[in-house]
Amino acid sequence: MTELNKIARALVAPNKGILAADESTGTIGKRFAKINVENIEENRRAYRELLFTTLNINEYISGAIMYDETIRQRAGNGETFVAVLEKQNILPGIKVDEGTEPMADSPDEVIAKGLENLPARLPEYVKMGAKFCKWRGVIKIGDNIPTSNCIQINAERLAKYAELCQENNLVPMLEPEVLMDGNHTIEKCFEITKNVLKVVFVELQKVEVDLSGIILKPNMVISGSDCSEQASAKQVAEMTVKCLKETVPEDVGGITFLSGGQSEKQACETLNEINKLSADCPWALSFSYGRALQTSTLKTWGGKVENFKEAQETFLKQAKLASLAREGNL
Ligand code: 13P
Repeated sequence: MTELNKIARALVAPNKGILAADESTGTIGKRFAKINVENIEENRRAYRELLFTTLNINEYISGAIMYDETIRQRAGNGETFVAVLEKQNILPGIKVDEGTEPMADSPDEVIAKGLENLPARLPEYVKMGAKFCKWRGVIKIGDNIPTSNCIQINAERLAKYAELCQENNLVPMLEPEVLMDGNHTIEKCFEITKNVLKVVFVELQKVEVDLSGIILKPNMVISGSDCSEQASAKQVAEMTVKCLKETVPEDVGGITFLSGGQSEKQACETLNEINKLSADCPWALSFSYGRALQTSTLKTWGGKVENFKEAQETFLKQAKLASLAREGNL
């Protein structure tokens, strides 16, 4: 087993999944606005401390993805967040795409950016203790989109990023996210997701990435959030597993879904149904949730020191539910 494969496997260890706590400053600002918390560095730090120091969270969480600001921050006791995570046997990860840029000839679409300076940035993250990275390419469904050009360029960048990560002994997590936004059907989501994953693996094979040392972070195949007919969790599971079986090579190190705007309850139900169908799947099917692990925790916390402990209990409870779903035992 290679070192990269070992890390990938640890990230999808039984009962465990990944906490995506890598919201950019803008995105965490949107989450804070909902609970009337000011988006300043100290609040962002305090909130991440709440998540990372939750007692026994390592029973359910194998890795935590941080944002560039977060990986440089410390807990109240002076320990770096990396050290806090390592102590609990949680692998530190880092988001390395630098957001998106609009596509020149298709202004409604975007491409992930940040490749130019990535070779210079990765060694610093390694030095800080990061063991895995994340890169998110966004694909939108709408009138005449996605274009094949948008899918192709996002896939090429994902492959280049993966190659650079592995050269630095970092496990690349690849997140080609087909957004839930829109009124499209689950069938449309299936068609687009299948095409996106196909192209991503063609590009990965071209640069000879070690597939056993990557984590795929896909969207589930799901109805658009404004679609009048919402597919059941069972249908989501059937179509998601079918899509993955038709596109993802067997030797991929592990699969961890994003929640993508599903509620905490929905993201656990769909993951649970997926795992009920996983018997003949060659990969672990786990979670790398942001909102679906944090929504109720944020609400309980509300930015108040006196709610810190209760919010940690809420977080532990939600992580446990995701862990049960990850085994099909919800
Ligand atoms: P959500 O689970 O909230 O979609 O976040 C996952 C993520 O990492 C988005 O890039």
